[in-house]
Amino acid sequence: MTYLKNCWYAAMWSEKLKAGDLTALTLLDEPLVFFRDAAGRAVAMDDMCPHRLAPLRLGKLLPDGRIQCGYHGLEFEASGECVKNPHGSGKIPKNCRVKTYALVDKHTLLWIWMGQGEPDESLIPDFSYLDADSPYDVGRRDTITMETNYRYIVDNLMDLSHASFLHDGVLGNAETIWAEIQVTQAGHSVTVQRDMYNVAPPLVRDLLFKRDGAPVNMWQKITWHPPGAVLNDVGTYAPDTERTAFSGQLGCHILTPSTADTTLYHTAAARQGPIAAIANEGDEAFKLRIAELRRFAFEEQDDPMLKAQQENIRRHPGVKPALLEVDAGPVRCQRILDGLIAAENKVSEPVAEAL
Ligand code: FES
Ligand SMILES: [Fe+2]
Repeated sequence: MTYLKNCWYAAMWSEKLKAGDLTALTLLDEPLVFFRDAAGRAVAMDDMCPHRLAPLRLGKLLPDGRIQCGYHGLEFEASGECVKNPHGSGKIPKNCRVKTYALVDKHTLLWIWMGQGEPDESLIPDFSYLDADSPYDVGRRDTITMETNYRYIVDNLMDLSHASFLHDGVLGNAETIWAEIQVTQAGHSVTVQRDMYNVAPPLVRDLLFKRDGAPVNMWQKITWHPPGAVLNDVGTYAPDTERTAFSGQLGCHILTPSTADTTLYHTAAARQGPIAAIANEGDEAFKLRIAELRRFAFEEQDDPMLKAQQENIRRHPGVKPALLEVDAGPVRCQRILDGLIAAENKVSEPVAEAL
């Protein structure tokens, strides 16, 4: 599978990489191993020893932050350089080096650059609401392994009309089918805004708002940054009030391809708006309930549907989808992504400079 390479991917939540652990993860079909060096800095390298190509994940992290291959004991520094050969004269061959990757700890995620050129941190999309010192009340930082290609999840997120059916009662309902939809583009990013008026609130919206089941106005404003970083800004307010008196939530849906058939789906939601202050802000049990409901929707409802959809698409490669108006956002995203991947494969410089 051809992936966009000259961009940042969220490998994992920073808090998940514990000092002393070797964490194996396949990203873009490449097996990698992650650990923290002696100074606590996160490191990513190929999960393959240059001696006999044994996986380094089966080795050991030494107290000085070196990784020791579990097969014949070569030791490597965080730079990937082999610094100890315990055999014979101790001579280290010139090509005895492990490939490493740029890794940046930003917005509480570890972002990896697996492409060419000089990685530019400013290309990491803005998820600053997740920062440790952000004013937002952030819920559980979760990762779901989805059994589908990341591009079907982009389609899913950029057309939230599916919530009325696939997430009926939880994130949508029969009254939220109709929405005023606007699709806009800024650079390579696409935003789909859906506004719904005077509708019965789905469970999560009701919990986040007044919990009285009374009709509400609500919006979803979802923005995609290629290849898979999505921010969903949602809000709920009473029909007879100004939009400023709302209860809202920011949700990240950051998709990292693991293989052609699996995706790491990093997600976390945070509260915002004046009503958050009176509706359980800081209440850990309440935040956990919202996190569980979100995970249920993505893992138990989206994932089986997308996996089965993928199987059908692969079974019928020549069939073109019969597109609807609600597909305008997803189609725009996929065209942009196709263009970026095609451009990247024609030029060797980073895509951001090439286009
Ligand atoms: S395979 Fe790693 S030291 Fe031999
Ligand atoms: Fe969904």
